[in-house]
Amino acid sequence: MHMGNDLRNCQIGIIGCGHLGRTLARRLLDTNFPSENLRVSYGGRPSTLDKIRKADLEKNVVVNEEICSKSDLIFITFRPQDFHELKKLFSPKQAGRHRRGLIISCMAGISTTTFKNALGFDVLRIMPSGPDTIQAGKGIVAVFPHHDAVITILTQIGLKVYEIAHEELMHIFTVGVCLPAVLLAAERMKLPVTEAMQMISIDYPVFSDIYSWARNVLPTFNSDEAKEEYITKMVTTGGVTESLIESIDSGDDLITAVRKGIARSKELAEKANTLSIQY
Ligand SMILES: NC(=O)c1ccc[n+]([C@@H]2O[C@H](COP(=O)([O-])OP(=O)(O)OC[C@H]3O[C@@H](n4cnc5c(N)ncnc54)[C@H](OP(=O)(O)O)[C@@H]3O)[C@@H](O)[C@H]2O)c1
Repeated sequence: MHMGNDLRNCQIGIIGCGHLGRTLARRLLDTNFPSENLRVSYGGRPSTLDKIRKADLEKNVVVNEEICSKSDLIFITFRPQDFHELKKLFSPKQAGRHRRGLIISCMAGISTTTFKNALGFDVLRIMPSGPDTIQAGKGIVAVFPHHDAVITILTQIGLKVYEIAHEELMHIFTVGVCLPAVLLAAERMKLPVTEAMQMISIDYPVFSDIYSWARNVLPTFNSDEAKEEYITKMVTTGGVTESLIESIDSGDDLITAVRKGIARSKELAEKANTLSIQY
């Protein structure tokens, strides 16, 4: 990597300038990362370009090939269904033409083994909390495996970094970053929360920290409608938050809901990994 001692000399690429990609790019620039060292790409939708313009990132847009050939660190922030694009960009035939930066995947569920099988080299995985928390400088992120420069960059943009020892723990984080919405849903159903969180933390010690974080990032709401809107915004159809909220609404206690959320995360990951191998 050609970064010297100062990480501001590092060349960073973000492939997939959607919700998460734009937020990471914006945070980098807002925390004094030099714009000329940042490259981003998107999938070509005009509505996405509009949002890129609004975030003042249009001058950073390049094609994926340029990101791959010029970056030291490449964040992958597109969806698992776009995995085939990575295979094209990093096929052994292409690899000879590029110097290759470190790939940092933000894609939920896709394992390092799937990457290794598809691309032939190791990548890093991160699981950040939602864009709104990152933007507010209150985000958290799980990183696997350890990497000094990546941890430094993530810390510099205001994220609290958790290094995890086993990749399986990414599922705990995937559920953990849903907690702000889950706590509201639990309150709506008048569920006891503190005890449930203590019980879950026995199996997963990091959970008590994530719980404190979630309570801390919850905004104050002026009305029940505002609370409902917050929950709705965090739910993706078929996703992990949805399974947690549905479980709570169906009368489950919080421990059961969290277990169902973890199971849903594993199920989605299995599906994504199977699909990625087929692409
Ligand atoms: N949002 C979160 O809270 C969150 C948290 C943790 C992890 N993640 C992970 O982050 C990833 C992105 O989530 P998101 O919510 O940001 O999704 P998103 O808003 O749909 O963003 C994905 C972006 O990828 C772009 N894209 C598609 N194909 C591309 C290609 N070939 N080259 C370059 N860019 C391409 C899309 O551009 P077009 O719009 O032009 O098609 C879109 O802007 C997912 O894998 C998710 O698992 C998200």
